[in-house]
Amino acid sequence: MSVFPSPPSSPPSDRRRYAIVGLGSRRELYQDGIEKVHHRWSALVAVCDSNPGRIELARRRSTQNGAPVPLGYLAADFARMLRECRPEVVIVTTSDASHHGYLVQAMEAGCDVITEKPMTTGAAPCRQILDTCRRTGRRCRVAFNYRYSPPRSQVKDLLMSGEIGDVLSVDFHWLLNTHHGADYFRRWHSHKRNSGGLLVHKSTHHFDLVNWWLGAVPVSVAATGKREFYTPAMARRMGLSGPHERCLTCPEKNRCGFHLDLAASPDLKSLYLDHEAHDGYWRDRCVFRADIDIEDTLNALVTYNTGATLSYSLNAFNAWEGYTVAFNGTKGRIEHSVVESNYVNGREAVQGGVAPGGVKIRVVPLRSAGFDVEPWSAEGDHGGGDRLMLEDIFLPEPAPDKYLRAADERAGACSVLVGIAANRSLESGARVQVADLVGDLPVPAYAPAGARGESVPMPERAR
Ligand SMILES: NC(=O)c1ccc[n+]([C@@H]2O[C@H](COP(=O)([O-])OP(=O)(O)OC[C@H]3O[C@@H](n4cnc5c(N)ncnc54)[C@H](O)[C@@H]3O)[C@@H](O)[C@H]2O)c1
Repeated sequence: MSVFPSPPSSPPSDRRRYAIVGLGSRRELYQDGIEKVHHRWSALVAVCDSNPGRIELARRRSTQNGAPVPLGYLAADFARMLRECRPEVVIVTTSDASHHGYLVQAMEAGCDVITEKPMTTGAAPCRQILDTCRRTGRRCRVAFNYRYSPPRSQVKDLLMSGEIGDVLSVDFHWLLNTHHGADYFRRWHSHKRNSGGLLVHKSTHHFDLVNWWLGAVPVSVAATGKREFYTPAMARRMGLSGPHERCLTCPEKNRCGFHLDLAASPDLKSLYLDHEAHDGYWRDRCVFRADIDIEDTLNALVTYNTGATLSYSLNAFNAWEGYTVAFNGTKGRIEHSVVESNYVNGREAVQGGVAPGGVKIRVVPLRSAGFDVEPWSAEGDHGGGDRLMLEDIFLPEPAPDKYLRAADERAGACSVLVGIAANRSLESGARVQVADLVGDLPVPAYAPAGARGESVPMPERAR
């Protein structure tokens, strides 16, 4: 039985019809957005997953939300779901490497699509998505929620205002602590075939921010990377006898600081542990396993079509979580940093929230005193970015946005190709040209041709 039947109540015809494929933790954001916040103009008509247990869970959520219960389909019946339920928009929240298949199939069937980041994990699927968008004329939206976080929009505002002139270089360093950072080494993310590694899965957010902040298109990437913390040797250095299979059955669970107790968390239990029998998806695999093939320490140097350069790093075992970014411009420098609160996906109410007093923005003009700028703020997950992004996605007529935060397949490609190029560079040791991965890359809306080149006043002499 592949269809999970629905009670007779069906959504009124004046609402936009959505389907969601991939019913894990990220699905909740979209389902609740449709059913609890934007239900007057949106309806969830179908849900799809490879795991029947999570299909039932998503359907129960609709009942809890007081919404009509969507039809449920197994992944193998995705095409049938499109035919029978006629969604206008398909939201893709499966694991990363499977996004493109659903995006292409849905657009070919006449649907618009919204995909979680990263848009895809490989150059050939990226090309296929771009070609399908062009051929079908369907809209592809990439859910870059980080752009909507108020301080990051504020940095965009400062850069657009010309406060520091043209940006010539960027230093951007992202730190994941051993709560959130370790989580990528527990499950599907820990294999590049599923996630593309952290340079694709995680850094796609960061590379998109830089592309969008600068209004620039990436040209070339050189990278280095290694895995030195989440390793069998590190387990032994921490006094364990070695890595084990998973936390649930770990003989050293009482001695390991990385032990994750799925059964103790109602959310993790109902989402993952209760449905393991269907697909063998273990959410609590040992973070020190030998078979992990993603890096935990990464550096990349990126060049852009504007002449700007980026020096980037990602570290997944840090003492605190957050980032520092500095823009060096022809008229000065902007320094911005955020310290985030703890986060384990699917477990905690506050996801990627900002620690109290954790946001700083400072402008330092060339040859005069720097000053702090009061950061913009908002309530909610991912620094308030998730709620604002949902409004932009689901409102029938979203407000005009001078920051152009709505991202499409062009931005999705420009971001993910930096990570894919970085992975190629890790393998070859050489600098990789983005155009060698995907030629004729369409230019995103935020990167107008010829935006650069305003005259630069000579700095005043130091007194
Ligand atoms: N923007 C953000 O801040 C953010 C945060 C978390 C996750 N994400 C993204 O959301 C997506 C989902 O992540 P998650 O944390 O919810 O993962 P998850 O493991 O909790 O859920 C993934 C779901 O997809 C299903 N699935 C996997 N492969 C499938 C396939 N081929 N066909 C159908 N179903 C399949 C799984 O059974 C599971 O229910 C990922 O792409 C991730 O990068 C984005």
